[in-house]
Amino acid sequence: MNQRLAQIAIVVNDYDEAIAFYTQKLNFILIEDTVLSETKRWVVVKPAGEGGCNILLAKAANEEQRSRIGNQTGGRVFLFMHTDDLKRDYENMLANNIEFVRQPSEEAYGTVAVFKDLYGNLWDLIQQKEKMTEFNFSPFPQLSTERLLLRSVQTTDANEIFLLRSDDKVNKYIDRPKAKTIEDATQFIEKMLNNIKNNQCLWWAVTLKTESVLAGAFLLWNINKENATAEIGYELLPAYHGKGIAQEAMQAVLKFGFDSLKFNSIAAVVHKENISSIKILERNNFELKGEIESNVLEYILLAKDFNRN
Ligand SMILES: CC(C)(COP(=O)(O)OP(=O)(O)OC[C@H]1O[C@@H](n2cnc3c(N)ncnc32)[C@H](O)[C@@H]1OP(=O)(O)O)[C@@H](O)C(=O)NCCC(=O)NCCS
Repeated sequence: MNQRLAQIAIVVNDYDEAIAFYTQKLNFILIEDTVLSETKRWVVVKPAGEGGCNILLAKAANEEQRSRIGNQTGGRVFLFMHTDDLKRDYENMLANNIEFVRQPSEEAYGTVAVFKDLYGNLWDLIQQKEKMTEFNFSPFPQLSTERLLLRSVQTTDANEIFLLRSDDKVNKYIDRPKAKTIEDATQFIEKMLNNIKNNQCLWWAVTLKTESVLAGAFLLWNINKENATAEIGYELLPAYHGKGIAQEAMQAVLKFGFDSLKFNSIAAVVHKENISSIKILERNNFELKGEIESNVLEYILLAKDFNRN
C-alpha cells in the first residue's frame, strides 16, 4: 500500500492576504493559484523544503467556516513544521514580525518553538534530534539466548537454506519462488551477506547451541530510518517446530530491535491461515492492524507494548 497525506486545508479570510503571509513572511512556495469561479480559487502553498504535505488556502464561504478561521483545533497546536535549522528560521521569522507564543526550548525529541500564523492558528516549529545513528551491522550482532545462538549466515549454510526455501510446509504461506537447486540457496546467502554489509537488513541464522547447523532464520528488514520502523520475518525447518524455538529467538530479536536499534515499532505481515505464525505474534503482543491485501494480515508491535519475558 502506498498512501500519503498530500494536502490539508487552512481556512482563510482572503486568498491574497493569506498568500502574502505564507510566501512573504514564512517564505513558503506558491504552487498553484487557479480561479475556479467568481468567488473560489484553488490556492496551494508549501514550505520551501522537499516533499511533505501541501496546504490548501481555502477561503471561508459561510459563517460556520468563518468561525473556524485561526482556530481549527480549539487552541491545540494545529500544524507541525520540521526544519533543518530552527535558529535560522526563528530569527528570520522574528524579523518578519511573526509572533511566537513559546520561545525555542530543548525537548527530548529536539528543539521546538510555537508561533501563530496570521489568523492565530498555532504552529510547532521543530528541529528534530538525529533520531537514529547510521546503522552499522558490522561486526554482525550475534544474539545468544538460553538454548540458541543467532549468528550471521555463512556459505556453509547452503544445504539447510535450500531445505528451508524448498520445503512445502515452510513455504506454504510465504510468497516467494521455491528454491530448486543448492545454487539458488548459495545465491540467496550472497544476497543476504551483501544486504547486511550495506546495513539494509539483518538476517540471523538460528542455531541450537548444541549443534551448529542452521535450524531456521529470523530477519529484520524493510527498515525505515526516518520513522524508526522495521518488519520482522522468521522461519524454522519443520523438525524445529513446536519447541518454543521461534519464541525464544523472537524475544531476542525484538529486544535487539527495540533496545539497541531503538525502533518505534516492528511490523509483521502474515497469511491469515498461518495459525502458528499468528500465535507467536499474538503471544508477543503484536496487534492486528488489518488485511493489507487479500488474505494477508499486517500486525504491529509498538516499542511500549513489547513484553520482555
Ligand atoms: C512460524 C513458525 C516459526 C512458528 O514456529 P513454532 O515452533 O510453532 O513457534 P514457537 O517457537 O512459538 O513454538 C510454540 C509451540 O511450541 C510449544 N513448546 C514446546 N516447548 C516449548 C518451550 N520450551 N517454550 C515455549 N513453547 C514450547 C508451545 O506449546 C507451542 O505449541 P503450540 O503451537 O501447539 O501452541 C513456524 O511455524 C514456521 O517456521 N512456519 C513456516 C514459515 C512461516 O510461515 N513463517 C512465518 C511467515 S509470516
